[in-house]
Amino acid sequence: MRAGLSWQSFKEMRKSWSGGLGTGVRQEYFQGVNDEIRVPTAAEKRGLYAEAGWRIGGLVAGEPDRIARMAGIVAVLHGLLPHFYWTGFYRVSGAALVIGPYQGTPGCARIAWGKGVCGTAWASGQTQVVADVHAFPGHLACDARSASEIVVPGRDAQGRVVAVLDVDSLVAGAFDEIDREALEGIMADWGEGGTCGKRACS
Ligand code: SME
Repeated sequence: MRAGLSWQSFKEMRKSWSGGLGTGVRQEYFQGVNDEIRVPTAAEKRGLYAEAGWRIGGLVAGEPDRIARMAGIVAVLHGLLPHFYWTGFYRVSGAALVIGPYQGTPGCARIAWGKGVCGTAWASGQTQVVADVHAFPGHLACDARSASEIVVPGRDAQGRVVAVLDVDSLVAGAFDEIDREALEGIMADWGEGGTCGKRACS
């Protein structure tokens, strides 16, 4: 016998909750973690990524569990970079990308091959830097407030894309070559399929 409230009873309680939580207010209900959104200057970005890269290495080096490494990467990046609104992993699973560790508002669970910015990064194997997501054909708006996005593929030893790191910002044009270079480096070392620097990942 199960303990606690059932999903059905949560649904019923939600209906009677005064004020309700219709689709219009749902997104506002999930406040972003990074409320004070600011795009750092180039010099600040370099400093913040230096700090992030160093902290991530210290946190996850030698950790054989891939989910634990991804969770550490996400927590450090999301906490340090003020222009990150949504930060997370999607892992290749069959014909879809399936959501992994993330921080921010609730993300879409699955993305098909070639769909949206994430699916395009998977299909092309190339980092996608999108200054205006609304101008990107097929962009998947998991949170309508996202304005710009960077998606970096991670590869296994055979060169196959096994995951993508997805970062969204509330500010248009928030990501540039500094973000690309830093995030590609972090993925190559510590992301799913990463080499873990000089230490073996597992
Ligand atoms: N916008 C992404 C979907 C994932 S969310 O941003 C969390 C895309 O178009 O692939």
